[in-house]
Amino acid sequence: MHEFAISEAADKPSLYADLHSALDGLTADEPDAIANMANAAALLWEYLPDINWAGFYRLIGDELVLGPFQGKAACIRIAMGAGVCGTAAATHETQLVDDVEAFPGHIPCDAASASELVVPIVVEGRLIGVLDIDSPSKARFDADDAAGCEALVALIGPRVAG
Ligand code: SME
Repeated sequence: MHEFAISEAADKPSLYADLHSALDGLTADEPDAIANMANAAALLWEYLPDINWAGFYRLIGDELVLGPFQGKAACIRIAMGAGVCGTAAATHETQLVDDVEAFPGHIPCDAASASELVVPIVVEGRLIGVLDIDSPSKARFDADDAAGCEALVALIGPRVAG
């Protein structure tokens, strides 16, 4: 069992700093990419409030393939450039979407999703996949969430690169 010192009522930067420490501890000594993605998804699912999906898509060949996640069963394959995930993958840029209905080509895996944050995982210039988090609330994610998740992805990138 893992015990984490995570203050759930803290401000976002503090929460993400705690999550960074917890994720570092969980993944530092583990070389298996899937195990590390699985624990990262579980950690985010447990401690980020107001989300309905958290997980990974991995770049396999020329498309994104569903990886470890928490939430409802989701779309399995996403083409590069398609939807929010494929856009993050194609551009190597974080996608912060306040209203998924307004995002051209958004792929609705769970009808409850209203806003979404997708961070590309790029290690030494190579795209590994994306971290995707959905919320049932519009504009759930802000710059603090983007920065916090980008720091988490920077930490685990080399540990999920396979
Ligand atoms: N909405 C995403 C698809 C993945 S699910 O949200 C888990 C997209 O538009 O790429």
